[in-house]
Amino acid sequence: MITTSVSDVKKTPPILRGGLPYLGHALEFQRNPIGVLQHARDQFGEIFSFLLAGSKVTVLTGAKANEAFFRAPDDQFSQKQAYQFMVPIFGKGIAYDTTPDRMSEQLGFIFPALREERMQAYAQFMADEAQAYFDTWGKSGEIDLLTAMNELTVFIASRCLIGHEFRQNLSTEFASLYHDLEGGISLLAFFQPYLPLPSFQRRDKARIRMVELISQIIANRRSRGHEGEDFLQTLMTARYADGTVLSDDNITGLLLTLLFAGQHTSAVLAAWTGILLLQHPQYLPAIMAEQQAVLGNSKTFSLEALRQLGVLERSIKEAERLRPPLVMLMRKILRDFEYNGYYVRAGGLAMVSPAVSHRLSECFHFPNRYDPDRFTPERAEDRKSPYTLIGFGGGRHRCIGQAFAYQQIKVIWSVLLQQFDLELGHRNYEPDYSTFIIGPRQPCLIRYRRHL
Ligand code: HEM
Repeated sequence: MITTSVSDVKKTPPILRGGLPYLGHALEFQRNPIGVLQHARDQFGEIFSFLLAGSKVTVLTGAKANEAFFRAPDDQFSQKQAYQFMVPIFGKGIAYDTTPDRMSEQLGFIFPALREERMQAYAQFMADEAQAYFDTWGKSGEIDLLTAMNELTVFIASRCLIGHEFRQNLSTEFASLYHDLEGGISLLAFFQPYLPLPSFQRRDKARIRMVELISQIIANRRSRGHEGEDFLQTLMTARYADGTVLSDDNITGLLLTLLFAGQHTSAVLAAWTGILLLQHPQYLPAIMAEQQAVLGNSKTFSLEALRQLGVLERSIKEAERLRPPLVMLMRKILRDFEYNGYYVRAGGLAMVSPAVSHRLSECFHFPNRYDPDRFTPERAEDRKSPYTLIGFGGGRHRCIGQAFAYQQIKVIWSVLLQQFDLELGHRNYEPDYSTFIIGPRQPCLIRYRRHL
């Protein structure tokens, strides 16, 4: 339970000792954050603190502690203040640069774009993109799976989010703008997002150009009275509660929010899904049997058919559990809080870690073992508590794009597995902790051979 006042005599969470003055555990943490967190969890249990570059970080792990984190109100645990480094990308007045209520209103505009009939249309867009992408591969060869998943998910996201005009003209300019925006996400940006660095200046220029590109499409659609089946269209028709329409800058900001929340994360989860499956090929026959039973040789993907791919879905869920793309979620602590007899003062950061929580033996049976069948209806290990599997977060800030992400990963792996024999290109695929979204370290090679 979380309460608000803290007295001086009360117990504070155990502190992870060691580390450097001021920097604390920053260096080890940058190399292997999960190693540091897992070690501290083994030592102290569900709540502990450590020092990170001058900030005290209090880590909560396990279903009950995760629940306390996700259920804390915004004026106590602020997501907005923890993710300020995204403001230069998303834009002024968008998401983390507005009040939590306004942000909810903005995200609420997205829901019509996630309705059944839209998801139905996206299913085929996703399949068409996947097919066109894999058609560019030869008869056999070797590819970097993460690079491939990144390229393909950019095509899918731009088609479903910004629309076919944009997708058709997807230029090297867009790739370079996207790259410059991504270059604005770093550990330095987390602490100082507005330093006059060349990478931050490129980020800001890229955003201005992105607004210009999307404004042209909006103007074009309005003048032709054309309507698209995409997120852009949904935002073009949305109204704030006071009746005002969204400005082009607002629309672009929300599209960038979705693109940044959903593209790289989906690419990474798609890559891990495939790697884990190829590392455990005993699970492939059931997936192939399901493909045959549900899809046959059809190249069209209905939403209904995709929903029936339960075996494939469990392998994605197991990848989400073992290799969550977001390994830590943060909040700034604005008001003192209490958890299970421990008191934490306002001022520091609170964190939950999907990567650590997903490997607790009290939540999952043999947690380090790859076992997608733990999610069968009979076993349903994720249903014991809503806060054991948290790869998509929880509570009021839970991901709104999970169904979209699962749908595209299902489509991608259905197309790949139906049309190619695949093999791992090397022995080990370790996580790369040098970025915010934790994918497999590159090169991350797989070999393919097209079916005749
Ligand atoms: C595998 C893919 C994805 C993963 C692992 C993922 C994970 C997450 C997580 C963990 C959060 C909660 C963050 C927090 O509590 O601090 C989140 C929030 C969010 N996600 Fe996703 N996501 C994915 C795909 C998507 C997609 C495809 C979209 C959009 C189409 C999306 C849109 C969002 C948005 C808008 C939020 C913020 C919700 C809020 O704060 O109220 N995500 N996501």
